[in-house]
Amino acid sequence: MIIAIDGPAGSGKSSTAKAVAAHLGITYLDTGAMYRVITLKCLRAGIPVTDEKRLSEVSNGTIIAFTGIPPQVSVWMDGEDVSSAIRSDEVTKNVSDYCAPTVVREALVNQQRRIAEGRSIICEGRDIATVVFPKAELKIYMIASVEERAKRRLEDFKKLGVEKNVEELMREIEIRDQKDSSRKNSPLMKADDAIMLDTTGMTLDQQIEWIVEKARALQ
Ligand code: DC
Repeated sequence: MIIAIDGPAGSGKSSTAKAVAAHLGITYLDTGAMYRVITLKCLRAGIPVTDEKRLSEVSNGTIIAFTGIPPQVSVWMDGEDVSSAIRSDEVTKNVSDYCAPTVVREALVNQQRRIAEGRSIICEGRDIATVVFPKAELKIYMIASVEERAKRRLEDFKKLGVEKNVEELMREIEIRDQKDSSRKNSPLMKADDAIMLDTTGMTLDQQIEWIVEKARALQ
């Protein structure tokens, strides 16, 4: 079974999908982490987003691996644990630009399909139900208000000891939403047959239960 979860940043996809994977004993795939790895590598190597040739080399030549059991998942780039590095402010601010070129998307979508071959998986991102797995058995489009999403990110930063304010985070989220939704290639959008889940005001447990129930009904 393939469960596809799409939605904007901070809508609750990652924490929910990880917990659902643990509940159902299926593989969890965070496609956003893959775009973040490519962004990190390009930033470190000083590769501008306009250099298609080198972007293609990086997208096709980087070994991206996941280890661990959800919710404890580590992300690896060519054998280096980059789980924290890919969540840095710099990567977060640049990833919307580096994930847009066709060469990057084609390379990563192919890898995502290979990872899912022959297994049950819950996969989260922006184009999972529309492009990567259009035949997924369960498609969910998660949303939440910008304010709620900024508050959740504020909590994440607090845990890392980083001071931010809600207004600043709301602006950043709006800019990223705008870029992700308006890009030419595979923009963020709801698949016609996806079920909408508005997580504003919902607890994590409620979100998990909602999806697990839908998935069990299909098993
Ligand atoms: O889910 P996230 O915030 O870690 O995603 C990082 C970026 O990657 C986000 O700006 C959108 C992009 N992304 C994408 O274009 N397609 C996906 N399937 C997943 C993420």
